[in-house]
Amino acid sequence: MVFTVTLNPAVDRTLFVERLRTDSSNRVRREARYAGGKGIDVSRALASMGVPTVALGFVGGFDGKEFEGRLLNEGVACDFTRISGEIRTNVIIHDEESGHETALLASGPEIQPVELMEFIEKLERLSDARYLVVSGSLPRGLTPAVYRRVIQVGNDRGARTVLDASGEALRLGIRARPSVIKPNRSELAELAGRELADVAAIVGFCRELQDQVPTVLVSLGPDGIVMVESGRALHARPPKVEVKSTVGAGDCAVAGFLHGLIRDESPAGCLRRAVASGTAATLNDGTGLCRPEDVARLVEQVTVEEV
Ligand SMILES: Nc1ncnc2c1ncn2[C@@H]1O[C@H](COP(=O)(O)OP(=O)(O)OP(=O)(O)O)[C@@H](O)[C@H]1O
Ligand SMILES: [Mg+2]
Repeated sequence: MVFTVTLNPAVDRTLFVERLRTDSSNRVRREARYAGGKGIDVSRALASMGVPTVALGFVGGFDGKEFEGRLLNEGVACDFTRISGEIRTNVIIHDEESGHETALLASGPEIQPVELMEFIEKLERLSDARYLVVSGSLPRGLTPAVYRRVIQVGNDRGARTVLDASGEALRLGIRARPSVIKPNRSELAELAGRELADVAAIVGFCRELQDQVPTVLVSLGPDGIVMVESGRALHARPPKVEVKSTVGAGDCAVAGFLHGLIRDESPAGCLRRAVASGTAATLNDGTGLCRPEDVARLVEQVTVEEV
């Protein structure tokens, strides 16, 4: 089973208005609501690929019930830790005339120590965790060290652990030796504490991480992904596509990589699928993730070279 962890999930609510006027009333023409959060996106993308997953994390309140219902509708099983606070709602205002989106991001509830304890105990009881994906930002009340703990427990349960985080959470998470990390270029440069100007510099720094992280995937937006493992460094590039929105591209890349692993594909095959899935996500606007038919088409067009 693939478990995903989203510590600070959100209901994403997009309101479509003809033209946004500030200091005035705006009529909402339609609205859409989604279950959001980075680990949640990985679960949703995996479900669309036919891979069963269970979403873990903190959810509370009436909106939390709706959140779970939406996920179940998409084929994502949930085993959230219930909290006393209410799940946050992010509001995105989509101006139809200009295409501009204005996001109002909520910080969300504060996690209580006892809630964190319950969550960790739940992780410690996981019996069939083949993969554990830890992804996204931290809620109030938790320190970045929680990522280290989660990876530790995942490793102890025999799971292959995947960490997609930034800043301190990434730095501390790595100390617990995750199987895979997927920083983007700027997240990796922040970790390195220096600019990584080209692919050679990226590969060089990934080699420094090798004794702690067996597989480093560095996503480079339109330039695809560099994968560094012991004895191998590959760069996979997507074809040129017409990009509608890059929201969720990184999460779909993680899901695609896992899908490759689950299908027992070669390292290059998994990488190819990661790039195809990330790029497939860019073909859909808003919070749309990757469509399997787009992934299938793009996977044939991704080029892989040794670097
Ligand atoms: N402009 C683009 N054109 C083609 N493919 C893209 C583009 N942007 C992203 N992708 C695809 O998505 C993958 C992940 O994108 P990116 O490097 O932007 O991740 P990220 O910065 O972690 O994103 P996120 O904000 O979702 O966390 C890339 O490796 C690539 O395959
Ligand atoms: Mg990312």
